[in-house]
Amino acid sequence: MAADLSRILVIGSTGYFGKFMVDASVRLGHPTFAMVRQGTYSSNPEKAALIDSFKSRGVNLVYGDIYEREKLMAALKQVDVVICTLSHRTPHLYEDEVMLIEAIKQVGNIKRYIPSEFGFDVERLDIMEPAKSTLSVKARVRQRIREEGVPHTIVCGKIAANWHFLPRIGQVEGFGPPADKIHILGDGNTKAVFVREEDTATYTVKAADDPRTLNKIMYLRPPGCVISHNELIDLWEKKTGKKLERIYIPEHEVVTKMEDSSPGLRGCYMVAHASFVKGQTMIDIDPLIGVEASELYPEVKYASIGEILNTYL
Ligand SMILES: NC(=O)c1ccc[n+]([C@@H]2O[C@H](COP(=O)([O-])OP(=O)(O)OC[C@H]3O[C@@H](n4cnc5c(N)ncnc54)[C@H](OP(=O)(O)O)[C@@H]3O)[C@@H](O)[C@H]2O)c1
Repeated sequence: MAADLSRILVIGSTGYFGKFMVDASVRLGHPTFAMVRQGTYSSNPEKAALIDSFKSRGVNLVYGDIYEREKLMAALKQVDVVICTLSHRTPHLYEDEVMLIEAIKQVGNIKRYIPSEFGFDVERLDIMEPAKSTLSVKARVRQRIREEGVPHTIVCGKIAANWHFLPRIGQVEGFGPPADKIHILGDGNTKAVFVREEDTATYTVKAADDPRTLNKIMYLRPPGCVISHNELIDLWEKKTGKKLERIYIPEHEVVTKMEDSSPGLRGCYMVAHASFVKGQTMIDIDPLIGVEASELYPEVKYASIGEILNTYL
């Protein structure tokens, strides 16, 4: 019953991940609150339509900005859980989240804070610079949350399925699925985890009320979402009935490729290298601090990689 479920506030609701969090919260029956910026509503028709769709689904809209202290405090007082999906691309994610953490401590009624993560396990991440420094901000946020004793759950351990790699069948370059040749970093046998954004949000909202995830790191590793690049290509070839010429790029050449790329693509190479070569989405889960989402919630019907690939056919 909705009355028994926590009231969830999504901060960053109109962003790439935030909209999926709002959707999952509503779908799972939580009284849902979404912080939206008035300026975004009036200047961005696409986001205005999204905000209207929130409204029509019964979401409580909180018009405001995290820097508007009174509005932020008033919003926090109405809810039990805060899911933050502010962007890591801002240079002040740390300061913004610390401000949220301090506000959460001050109101005293928040039972769970879910920080802006949803990617690698940033405290144990082996990734090239400057991606390492960019993502280390999230590790500093974790540390601060623990120091402040804020009840939390960290959600991580996968790559967003519909972001960049799967739509290109694992390639870094190109647009959409390759027609005849495919480039593979390393030997193509390292396993990586790709979880659909909707499913990431479902697991996140499930975890919000769960004592088993309190102050834990929840990794997303549903068995049907784990695949190596070679297996991914096999699967795609089976679906399309067409063979691709496989071109393997040895690890030492990846760095050169990266240096020759545009800054945006360089970041993608770093993520691909960390995932497909270094296996950074498949690190061991420490049972003292880590849990795995699909083990906790076997009832969630997540999309397997095969099902996700069907949407690109
Ligand atoms: N995108 C991906 O593929 C991806 C993949 C893996 C992990 N992640 C992680 O997911 C998290 C969220 O990233 P994202 O890509 O979803 O971010 P995003 O699309 O840039 O969205 C950021 C959201 O924050 C809102 N916002 C920004 N400043 C605000 C402020 N001062 N007050 C209130 N709201 C504010 C934005 O509102 P407006 O709409 O008004 O601008 C927007 O709703 C990050 O930790 C990121 O690393 C993302």
